[in-house]
Amino acid sequence: MSEAHLVDGEALQFRNLKYADLGPVTALNLRAFQDSDTWQWRFRGVSPSGLVAITKHFGRKAYFDPHVKCKVAYTSSRPYLGFLAYEQFPHTSSQLSYYQKLMNWVNSLYERFLYWWYDAGAVKRRMQYNEVQYGTALYKTGLFNHPGGFLHVHLVAVDPEIQKRGIGKALLNIVHNDADMHRLPSFLVASTIGFGMYEHLGYRTAVTTELRDDETGEIVKISSCMIRDAKKE
Ligand SMILES: CC(C)(COP(=O)(O)OP(=O)(O)OC[C@H]1O[C@@H](n2cnc3c(N)ncnc32)[C@H](O)[C@@H]1OP(=O)(O)O)[C@@H](O)C(=O)NCCC(=O)NCCS
Repeated sequence: MSEAHLVDGEALQFRNLKYADLGPVTALNLRAFQDSDTWQWRFRGVSPSGLVAITKHFGRKAYFDPHVKCKVAYTSSRPYLGFLAYEQFPHTSSQLSYYQKLMNWVNSLYERFLYWWYDAGAVKRRMQYNEVQYGTALYKTGLFNHPGGFLHVHLVAVDPEIQKRGIGKALLNIVHNDADMHRLPSFLVASTIGFGMYEHLGYRTAVTTELRDDETGEIVKISSCMIRDAKKE
């Protein structure tokens, strides 16, 4: 058995996100992302509401949809050290109950309402962002044709006070163990901050996208769509 990962002498542990965690986890994500280029572009104009909305979106989805998983890293004296959200594609919605499908639909409406409420311009930028990322990148990678689907990592955040001590890697290991067990590739869109770590952990760049400001046309963010192939036994 592998030894427990220690943080200040305490074992690092993981648990699924609970509803009561949404507030503290959102605060953790705000702290973690505030200096990143993801923050500066994606959340410009809506910050901090945009990140709050996204975190809550995954939190709620995880509650209703078994394809979505949110993990919290903690130790006995520090309840919120890191967070990660990932989901499995394709969403074989037939596996969901009508109640779960209904709640997902209500959730997506609420999500759109939030973007509209906080900043209509942000809705446009977010749509453009999705279009670039999913339209260009995901299809180009061919992942949608992968038998069995793939795992999409959405948010990885470690408390800035405790970064560079293996917590991000330990969170990603949860995804990678899942991916290897089911022989699925893992996919994520890396910002410049996460890129080095993902490469180090075995991801390769499939597509790089330059995102431009819809008003000025200037490049405001470079994102790398990265894939990690499942390890063969
Ligand atoms: C990105 C982030 C999650 C990393 O978490 P972390 O706990 O500091 O990372 P770890 O200490 O677990 O590092 C994991 C491994 O990647 C390596 N690594 C980390 N950053 C690296 C870099 N820029 N280049 C190369 N390797 C890197 C580490 O050396 C470590 O390898 P090792 O275990 O073999 O020594 C954290 O910095 C963060 O929350 N950033 C703000 C939010 C964000 O931008 N998230 C990513 C969005 S794409």
